[in-house]
Amino acid sequence: MCGIVGFTGTAPAVPILLAGLAKLEYRGYDSAGVAVSDAGGITVIKAGGKLANLTALVEKHGGIPSACGLGHTRWATHGAPTDVNAHPHLSSSGRIAVVHNGIIENYQELKERLIAEGFSFVSQTDTEVIANLIDYHYAGDLAGAVAAALSELTGSYAVGVLSVDAPGEIVAARKDSPLVVAMMEGGAAMASDIPALLGYTRDFYSVERGEIAVLTRSGVSFLGPGREPLTKVAFHVDWDAESASKGGADTFMIKEIFEQPRALRDTISTKIKGGEIVFPEFAPSAGEIRAIDRVFVVACGSAAHAGIVGKSAIETLARVPVEVELASEFRYKNPIITDRSLVVAISQSGTTADTREAQSYAKSKGARTLAVINVVGSQIAREADSVIYTNAGPEIAVATTKAYSCQLAVMYMLAVYLGRKLGTIGDEYNRRLIAALTALPDQIETALGTDAFAKELAGRYSAATDVFFIGRGADYAAGLEASLKLKEISYIHSEAYAAGELKHGTLALIERGTPVVAVAVCEKLFDKLMSNIKEVRARFGEVIGVTWRGNRRMDDECAAVFEVPVTEPVFTPSLTIIPLQLFAYYIAAAKGLDIDKPRNLAKSVTVE
Ligand code: AGP
Repeated sequence: MCGIVGFTGTAPAVPILLAGLAKLEYRGYDSAGVAVSDAGGITVIKAGGKLANLTALVEKHGGIPSACGLGHTRWATHGAPTDVNAHPHLSSSGRIAVVHNGIIENYQELKERLIAEGFSFVSQTDTEVIANLIDYHYAGDLAGAVAAALSELTGSYAVGVLSVDAPGEIVAARKDSPLVVAMMEGGAAMASDIPALLGYTRDFYSVERGEIAVLTRSGVSFLGPGREPLTKVAFHVDWDAESASKGGADTFMIKEIFEQPRALRDTISTKIKGGEIVFPEFAPSAGEIRAIDRVFVVACGSAAHAGIVGKSAIETLARVPVEVELASEFRYKNPIITDRSLVVAISQSGTTADTREAQSYAKSKGARTLAVINVVGSQIAREADSVIYTNAGPEIAVATTKAYSCQLAVMYMLAVYLGRKLGTIGDEYNRRLIAALTALPDQIETALGTDAFAKELAGRYSAATDVFFIGRGADYAAGLEASLKLKEISYIHSEAYAAGELKHGTLALIERGTPVVAVAVCEKLFDKLMSNIKEVRARFGEVIGVTWRGNRRMDDECAAVFEVPVTEPVFTPSLTIIPLQLFAYYIAAAKGLDIDKPRNLAKSVTVE
C-alpha cells in the first residue's frame, strides 16, 4: 500500500506534492520521490527512508518552478526500499514518468517482452514496467497509451502518469487500489487518498475501476472503461485530517480489520501461478526439501499463533514435523537443530528482537532460515536465507489483524508448496486447496458481515472480568489469537484452552455467567466440543459459539452463535478469527479505550 499524489496547474507543484505525501506517510514510508515536468524534460528527485530525506534533497536542489508533477511514498512490495527502487519511475526513454500503488502480477513476462523490444530497466520494481509499457504504446495520445498499457496488466493498481510530450497533463487510472481526483485553487490534483488534498478542497471525484481521469490546469475530464467520455459528480467530505487517514473509520484497527479481504487477495494472488504455489524468493530444490527433517517456527505473540496454525497445516498436508517455539525461549532451551532443520521466523515488523535473535541462533547452528515478513527489507528479512512476504500493507494499529491473517495464508501456502514437492498432495486435492485459498478473501468478506452482531453482543460482555476461549484442533489455535486480541485492547483477563483441558483444572474458575467462547468449526471434533460446552453450562457458564454457517446444533447451549462460511479444515482459522476480532474490538470500544495504542504495548518490540 503506497501513497501517490499528482498536481497540475499554475502554482509550483513540488510544495503541493510534498504536503500531500506527508499526509500519506501512513500508507507507506520506506522511500519517497517526486517527478516534475517542464519544457526541459522530467526532473526526478527520490530518496530511501523517511519523507524527510526527500524533503532535504528537494531543498538542496533549490527552487523548482514546474507546475506539473507526481509524488510517491512507498511501501515496498517488489525490491528493497532503496533510492533506485523508489518511485516515480521513468521509461527508459525518459519521456514518461509513473507513480503506482498496487501489485502487478505479470510484470516479469512484460519486462522480458519490453527488453526484447529494446527497453531497459534500472530497478527491481513492477512499476518501471508500467512506465516502459506506456512509452511502448505512446503515439501522441497519453490517455490512449495509458489505457492500452493498463489493459495488459494483471494485478492491482492506481497510477499517475505524465509525459514530456503532453505538457501540463496528468493521466490517472485505477483498478483495485484507491484513487481520488479533485479541482483545487490553481489547478487539478489526484491522490491515493483524501487526506493528501484535504488542505486544498473538500470536494472529490472518485475514480472507479477501469476509468481514466485526464487532469489539466483548466480542469478534469473522465473516460469510461471503453474510453467513452464520462460526467461525474463530486462528493463532499467533512472529515478532519486525522479521521481522513483512517478513511473515515474510528480507528486504524477497525479499518485494518476490514482491509483483510484486500490484504489476503494481494498476498495470495501473487503466489499462485498456473494452479501451483510459487514463492518468488523461496525456491529450494526438491532434494533440499526432501532433506528437511524438521521445521521450527520461531515467533512472538500473534505471529506465534500463526505458527501454531501453520504447524497444523504443514503436518496435515506435507507430513513434515513442525515445532513451534516462542522466540524468546528458543535459544535458551538447547533446541536440536541440524543442517536438515528449516527454521521459519514469522514477523509482521521484521524487527522483533526476540525473533531476530532466534533466527540468528538457528543460523549459527547450521539451519536453513526462511522469514515470513510484512515489512520488505526489514532486518529479519535481510538476515534470513529466504523470505516470503505477506502483502498486508502498513499495519498501524498495535493489535495485529490483517498481517496476522496474511501470515496464516502464507503458512497455508507453504504447507501446500511443501506437500506438492514431497508428493503428499495429489493434483485433485491441490486443485481443491488452491480453489479454497482463492476463495478465502471473499469468505472473509462474508465473515465481516457479523460486524453488527459482534457490536451488539460486545455490549453485553464489556464488564466481564474473565473470558475463556475453548476449541479443539485448529479451533484451539484460533482461540489463542482471539484471546490475545481481547486482552491487549480491552484489558480483560482472558485465556484460551484446548477444550479437553478445561476439566483438568480451569473448570474450577467457571462460575455463573462466566463468558466462554467455544470455537467449533472442526466438524470431526464437534461432538467432543459439545460435551465440553455442556460441562461449562452445568456450572452455569455462558457460552458464545463460533461455528459453520447453518449449524444449529449449538443454539440450545449458547447465548449467541457466530456463523462463518465453510472452507477446507486446515484453513478455518482464517474465518473463525474474524467475528472474534470484531468481538474484542467492540468490547474495547464499549470501554472507551485507546484501541490503536493500548497501554504498555508497542507495535514492534525491538528489545528482548
Ligand atoms: C499482536 O496483536 C501484538 N501486536 C504482538 O503479539 C505481535 O504479534 C508480536 O509482538 C510480534 O510482532 P511481529 O509480528 O512484528 O514480530
